[in-house]
Amino acid sequence: MNILLLGSGGREHAFAWKITQSPRCNQLFVAPGNPGTAEVAINIPLGVTDFLGIYKFIQTQGIDLVVIGPEEPLVKGLVDYLHAQPGMEYLLIVGPSQPGATLEGSKDFSKKFMLRNSIPTAAYATFQANQLVEGLAYLEQQSLPIVLKADGLAAGKGVLICENLEEAKSSLKEMLVDAKFGEASSKVVIEEFLTGIELSVFVATDGVSYKILPEAKDYKRIGEGDTGLNTGGMGAVSPVPFADAAFLSKVEECIVKPTIKGLEKEGIPYKGFLFIGLMNKDGEPYVIEYNVRMGDPETEAVLPRIESDFVDLLTAIAGGTLASYTIQLSPKTCATVVMVSGGYPEGYEKGFSIFLPEKSIGSVLFHSGTARSESGMLTNSGGRVLAVTGMGANLEEALAAAYGTIEKVSWKKAYFRRDIGQDILRLGFKSLNLEAEAL
Ligand code: AMP
Ligand code: GLY
Repeated sequence: MNILLLGSGGREHAFAWKITQSPRCNQLFVAPGNPGTAEVAINIPLGVTDFLGIYKFIQTQGIDLVVIGPEEPLVKGLVDYLHAQPGMEYLLIVGPSQPGATLEGSKDFSKKFMLRNSIPTAAYATFQANQLVEGLAYLEQQSLPIVLKADGLAAGKGVLICENLEEAKSSLKEMLVDAKFGEASSKVVIEEFLTGIELSVFVATDGVSYKILPEAKDYKRIGEGDTGLNTGGMGAVSPVPFADAAFLSKVEECIVKPTIKGLEKEGIPYKGFLFIGLMNKDGEPYVIEYNVRMGDPETEAVLPRIESDFVDLLTAIAGGTLASYTIQLSPKTCATVVMVSGGYPEGYEKGFSIFLPEKSIGSVLFHSGTARSESGMLTNSGGRVLAVTGMGANLEEALAAAYGTIEKVSWKKAYFRRDIGQDILRLGFKSLNLEAEAL
């Protein structure tokens, strides 16, 4: 197959790495890609929202399968656009239709969807700009902390957890009236704060059948011990010991099944990945959010654990034949550590030369925010620069492999967390309650 993959992050490098391991892949193109994807595929200088450019490329290059990595083109309707072009009605695409992508594109839509389909989630209310007074009055009635969420896409920044009422009130005003997150916060979801442990669950679906992929735990804060500002993700671990069979079966029965059934019942086409961010509250799962794509850096820890042919999985999703696909997963542990530019998630300098080891034993190094200078030197060009995934028979081995490789990577002002996975090792996660108490 000739395959076009859209995106340019570590997630897409991991996809490209996995796709090109399949004997079914003839040629892989990545648009726009990064220096990492260039090692395994051909990068094409096309933006992920250049719908016309993407359509023309598919047409002229005889592309058989399109895989869409990030949410933005999905929420903007790329899948519907491509399927509406002459001769492309049956083009194989991994990525949901625009109505499906609204599960991530509008928090209010996703909350209503969960309510309609009896999917456990935090209690909430939604307010628009002309309802500030009602919104402020609602806040007065709630317990603290309280969560404010911009309805639309806000590059991962649209969620505020407010510890006191004054902060909540001024934040609500800033979001609704002063457009703190632009158009995205013209509607705000006010949500009950859930206490517990977070887990990321990934589902592949063709809209009718589904396969549950390995789960992951991610590390969102910039600082060790989960301190400091939120980031796109500083690390991930899979599998997650506290996600035992009993808990995962609750996730499947109470969340995954009603979600897929709900999509089908409501006539929402969905052929793609669904990333369910959930909270384990006293042993019960609650949905925090849906994302209509794989996570980054979770993908870098999840894909290496899929042993069955990955292009077969992608074509089964896109072609609606997932029911007859058998997924095989590896019991090995993957630990991903993200290396970032010093200063991220605030301001940082770009353009420093990156030195990589010749070999990375027991680990894979995925590129995210890297670029090639005119002289061909690898440089840092984004906040999150590299994601190193170590693999092993257990978490200790996986972490040793990841950090062993990281020791050999250098550039000026590089930063990474040294404590990825340490909470899991420390607590042992023998019992869910023990773990929840400790956090
Ligand atoms: P989101 O963008 O929806 O993933 O939210 C970002 C982060 O905010 C989540 O990963 C959680 O850590 C936290 N969060 C969001 N909603 C809630 C909630 N209702 N209760 C507690 N924490 C939350
Ligand atoms: N790592 C979180 C995300 O991809 O949304």
